[in-house]
Amino acid sequence: MIEGHFIVIEGIDGSGTTTQTRVLAERLSDKGLPVRTTREPSDGPIGVLIRQILTGRVVVPGLHGVHAPSWATMATLFASDRLDHLEAEIIPNLTDGVTVICDRYDYSSVAYQTVSSGGGDDVSTWVRELNRRARRPDLTLVLDVDPKVATSRRNTRSGSPELYEVDEMQVELAKFYAKIDELFPNDTIRHIDANCGVEEVTAAIWSEVMALRGESV
Ligand SMILES: Nc1ncnc2c1ncn2[C@@H]1O[C@H](COP(=O)(O)OP(=O)(O)O)[C@@H](O)[C@H]1O
Ligand SMILES: [Mg+2]
Repeated sequence: MIEGHFIVIEGIDGSGTTTQTRVLAERLSDKGLPVRTTREPSDGPIGVLIRQILTGRVVVPGLHGVHAPSWATMATLFASDRLDHLEAEIIPNLTDGVTVICDRYDYSSVAYQTVSSGGGDDVSTWVRELNRRARRPDLTLVLDVDPKVATSRRNTRSGSPELYEVDEMQVELAKFYAKIDELFPNDTIRHIDANCGVEEVTAAIWSEVMALRGESV
């Protein structure tokens, strides 16, 4: 059995990672390929806990005021979720020949924890080390978008903003993603201009995925 490809889609909030994960899966599926979409935080037990924290739903009785766990606590939770996600879902599917498309991966951990800590090299080195046992993707697509465009897209979504959805932080995250390749020199990372419409972004992603598969567009 030939293993499936492991494809990751990354970018700031509102860059379109969830939309493009879904659309890419539909297109691959239309070609008759076995494909599965997944996301981080995952839908496993640790991922569910992280989502509760991000949406502010974890309230400890007796605690005065609700405060989010520190960036270091979040980094360890994300790393635990990632290993569980790999063991329980990603690797079994790849082994079965299924292409797995993951909405966010450890690039998000490095970007969000480094930026939210206000830290620099120390933090990004530690977070990468925490994730050293995480399997590398075959292809990583980083959706580059102007933070203002991303903000206006986020504003069309329902619900309250999550923990990291603060405009100033998204500006820092966009800068971080622009040079993420330097931190992952052995990965295959492709930057996609995601300021345009969904179909144009999909077309750019599609040509990278076809190149990975050794097929012409
Ligand atoms: N290229 C695009 N052009 C315009 N709107 C988009 C584009 N990509 C996504 N959207 C819209 O922007 C919002 C955020 O997209 P989403 O895929 O949820 O972003 P992310 O998962 O990166 O936060 C959604 O309402 C989505 O329909
Ligand atoms: Mg999303």
